[in-house]
Amino acid sequence: MIEEAKNYLESRTPLRPSIGVVLGSGLGAFADELAERTEIPYSEIPGWPCSTAIGHAGKLIFGRLCDLEIAVMAGRAHLYEGYSPAQVTFGVRVLGKLGARSMVFTNAAGGINLELERGGLVLISDHINLQGVNPLAGPNDDSCGPRFPDMSEAYSRQYRKVAKDVAVELCIPISEGVYAAMLGPCYETPAEIRFLRTIGADVVGMSTVPEAIVANHMGMKVLAISCVTNMAAGVLPQKISHEEVLETGEMVRETLVKFLKALLPRLGN
Ligand code: HPA
Repeated sequence: MIEEAKNYLESRTPLRPSIGVVLGSGLGAFADELAERTEIPYSEIPGWPCSTAIGHAGKLIFGRLCDLEIAVMAGRAHLYEGYSPAQVTFGVRVLGKLGARSMVFTNAAGGINLELERGGLVLISDHINLQGVNPLAGPNDDSCGPRFPDMSEAYSRQYRKVAKDVAVELCIPISEGVYAAMLGPCYETPAEIRFLRTIGADVVGMSTVPEAIVANHMGMKVLAISCVTNMAAGVLPQKISHEEVLETGEMVRETLVKFLKALLPRLGN
């Protein structure tokens, strides 16, 4: 199925992206910045899962940013929607097979670290996988990568350095932290958030980790950025809602677009 999707996309666009970008909840605006765009709804691509989450567009956009050929996934499939780990990581596998050497992930996340604020950006330095599944479980596809891939630098140190430099140049405040991945779809309880803080997590979300694992498996370099759309459960005396998450995504949108636009051309391999 991955091969079929790859062949289909090769027939739809002459572009061969070196970087893949995945845009999370309410963060879909960046794709509008690309020149020579080809937009392909996920429903047209063989085997591609269609996201059902509100705020997720559900299309793959090929285009150019400066000299760079890029593929942007506006919307992703999540485990909490009932998709398998293979389905959730299908897009990354296909982009890897198309020749992408790097992946940039964005996501909406809850802020666990009390120094974070709603609307802040966090460079993911590492993750804790609490989703109970791993996309590499099962027979290993040796054409993709090794059986036991190393994960000691799952989020490229060099990319994080470039991202921090670009953020300083653009006066965009950004911090660094550990992302805990939960299955969802319910938000966490305050007790779960205290547990996550104790084990060293700074932000919490329901995506990105399976995709980052698969990208590492394929030897791609990974950068991931969380947008703190809300403080995590129990931090503030208020409930968490998907509306708040989308609203914050909207607030941060312009900053994130500006950041990605400046950053991507600087991520040479
Ligand atoms: N928890 C989990 N996932 C999330 C959150 C949260 O608080 N906010 C946005 N995605």
